[in-house]
Amino acid sequence: MAKSVKWWKNAVVYQIYPRSFQDSNGDGIGDLKGIEQRLPYLQELGIDVIWISPIFRSPMEDNGYDISDYYQVDPIFGTNEDMDSLICEAGKRGIKIILDLVVNHCSDEHEWFQRAVEDENSKEAAYFYFVRTKDGKEPNNWRSNFGGSVWSKLKDGRWYYHTFSPKQPDLNWENPLLRQEIYKMINWWMEKGIAGFRIDAITFIKKDLTFASVEMDDKKRYPVENLENYPGIEKFLQELKKETFDKFDCLTVAEAPGVDEESFESYAGESGYFSMIFDFSWENMEEEADKSKPEAVERLKKRIFNSQCFNSRHGWCGVFLENHDQSRCLNKYLEEKDRNRYSASALATLYFFLHGTPYIYEGQEIGMKNAKWNSIDEMMDVRAKITWKERVEQGEDGQEVLKYFSELGRDNARTPMQWNDSENAGFTTGKPWMKVQENYREINVAKQQNETDSLLAYYKKLIKLRKCEKLADVMSKGDFCPVFEEKEGMIAYKRTYADKEALVLVNLLNQDQILSWEWGTGKEILLNNYKDIRMQDQKIVFYPYQAIVL
Ligand code: GLC
Ligand code: CA
Repeated sequence: MAKSVKWWKNAVVYQIYPRSFQDSNGDGIGDLKGIEQRLPYLQELGIDVIWISPIFRSPMEDNGYDISDYYQVDPIFGTNEDMDSLICEAGKRGIKIILDLVVNHCSDEHEWFQRAVEDENSKEAAYFYFVRTKDGKEPNNWRSNFGGSVWSKLKDGRWYYHTFSPKQPDLNWENPLLRQEIYKMINWWMEKGIAGFRIDAITFIKKDLTFASVEMDDKKRYPVENLENYPGIEKFLQELKKETFDKFDCLTVAEAPGVDEESFESYAGESGYFSMIFDFSWENMEEEADKSKPEAVERLKKRIFNSQCFNSRHGWCGVFLENHDQSRCLNKYLEEKDRNRYSASALATLYFFLHGTPYIYEGQEIGMKNAKWNSIDEMMDVRAKITWKERVEQGEDGQEVLKYFSELGRDNARTPMQWNDSENAGFTTGKPWMKVQENYREINVAKQQNETDSLLAYYKKLIKLRKCEKLADVMSKGDFCPVFEEKEGMIAYKRTYADKEALVLVNLLNQDQILSWEWGTGKEILLNNYKDIRMQDQKIVFYPYQAIVL
């Protein structure tokens, strides 16, 4: 019997950053009831799964990525009953919910940590990494992911370890009791009827227990990112899977950058630890100076093709242009003058038919852009704040650091969703927790819902096509094959399965491009972000940023 295809291979996922999506009670912060109110919108968009960034009880140092109670919805977002209701109402519309699993660390306000601080000999003290040093100095020179040391000191002289902010102490996965606590919690949520998890920062759970300093030329700290996927992590991941995910038909997608080709299959292969991992290989391109130029397109093409050619043979990835830690894709890949409906739909087409499950981040479907930042005080992100301070203290110019974060800062993705042109873009009737972008009167959902050729309308078509019966096998089982690789400024590929094939052709330049048409004769046009296809002597002349699926 043929093996059945996993449901998530033909699904489209939509990521919600709950603080910024929809406020239902006027306190200026998005919440679960707000998401529930917007279910009709999401259903019409056509997505299958919602991934909600953390909604658990939290002091909100890192907007919920610092959890103080894994079993409770934070009052800011609502109640556990609101969650039940959301799962149920979404279910009625054919939409599944996945939650964010943050188990590399918790909050320093979690009762485990509080007990560990109170009593050095408590069971909970062994849930974390505590070190005392003979000279009282910090145990090593490692730099946390958010800047500064990975170590913070307690009053009693113990140092504790944190990959991220000091308010996010790392959990000690070496401890079997702690691991059991985590599995119990995962299963509890799964049994509530969610469809799976996005797994946060999982590559950090195994530490280099020597905690040895690494000599650095420039006296700077040694980045803890260099210790991701540390040997021995396999044991934890295998057990995690066996004790939890294996018991359910669920979607698990791991934030696991830095997994090398050798271990890719064990993470994201048929029987990998996870259903899929995110493909981060083309996420950070905003620093390059040649945006919108042929060289930039070639670089992007190379990265996409490299990872697709490999991944499509060895496993499954989540593919995306944006998430809550990233700049908006229009800023990332394009110069300001080139950010428009055509380039946005070209980018969308480009990634939507790749091997993997496509993820859309809230606001991406209407072409939201990075915000304009006038000062570091406008920024809310803990990472920006800590790093800004660190760099200024090291002698860098504050304005320059601000410029860096204006391009790359995570707050860019976190400004409130732009629903309409009323005050605060329809996000809240109160004072929004973070500023709404000035451009909301031009870029908003309501406006695009009324326009047949809006980006939003295009995303609806795209989603429908990605999920249509005709393409189901090609998308879930098809090969990936680059085409016209040598054509500068174009990114084109073929997905094939049995006698079916889908051809995706994207002109990523703001200029016409000519391709010979013989290969296209007789093929059905499935999607086109322009009204027509321009022909000239057996050749097709692509418009600027034209994207076609055949
Ligand atoms: C992940 C999340 C990020 C968070 C960090 C710490 O990278 O995506 O938003 O700050 O983990 O939990
Ligand atoms: Ca609210």
